[in-house]
Amino acid sequence: MSDQTATTTTPGLFCPTLISDAVSSSLPEGYLLRPLHATDYHHGFLDVLRVLTTVGDISESAWTERYIWMSTRNDEYFVVVIEEVSSRKIVAVGSLIVEKKFLRNLGVVGHIEDISVAKEMQGKQFGQRVIQALDYIAEKVGCYKAILDCSEKNEGFYVKCGYTRAGVQMAHYY
Ligand code: ACO
Repeated sequence: MSDQTATTTTPGLFCPTLISDAVSSSLPEGYLLRPLHATDYHHGFLDVLRVLTTVGDISESAWTERYIWMSTRNDEYFVVVIEEVSSRKIVAVGSLIVEKKFLRNLGVVGHIEDISVAKEMQGKQFGQRVIQALDYIAEKVGCYKAILDCSEKNEGFYVKCGYTRAGVQMAHYY
């Protein structure tokens, strides 16, 4: 399947009605907010993630396998991207993972993960738009809150996005 055919015949990771019109229309002209697509392997998704941390050398087949797995759980995994339409190059990415609980009357919590903006595109509000897009989805799918972990140096960014410090991050690496 060609890249173009794939884009026009498959819908992306999750239902596009969960993409906020308000956030989309606040982007600069020539940029598009949309769900992750299977073909984004070729549009720089992993390179944008590399701005955040180590990604590794992921083959296209390994990518596709993970994408398909996520798409079978597309009421839990919401990965958004902002693309520069003329080049089809991805400039910003972010994920919301939705967790269903017993507590709080079967409450639903959103986990914001893997927010990253291409180096040369930082400082242009793309990070904030990604967070707003994920907040919109979290609210739409019934989350009572969204939470995230970040480094001290990014706290100010999340405060600008409406988040407040709550608790301490703990980690146990295996
Ligand atoms: N500290 C304080 N304020 C900040 C910071 C910061 N580190 N970064 C941005 N801001 C402010 C901006 O000045 C702006 O303020 P304004 O609205 O008054 O102008 C506002 O926050 C929004 O900034 P954006 O332009 O949307 O920020 P950007 O697009 O550069 O995205 C991000 C911020 C995601 C931190 C980006 O710099 C990046 O990708 N960094 C490297 C990867 C990373 O650290 N990601 C976060 C990991 S944590 C997680 O994933 C849950």
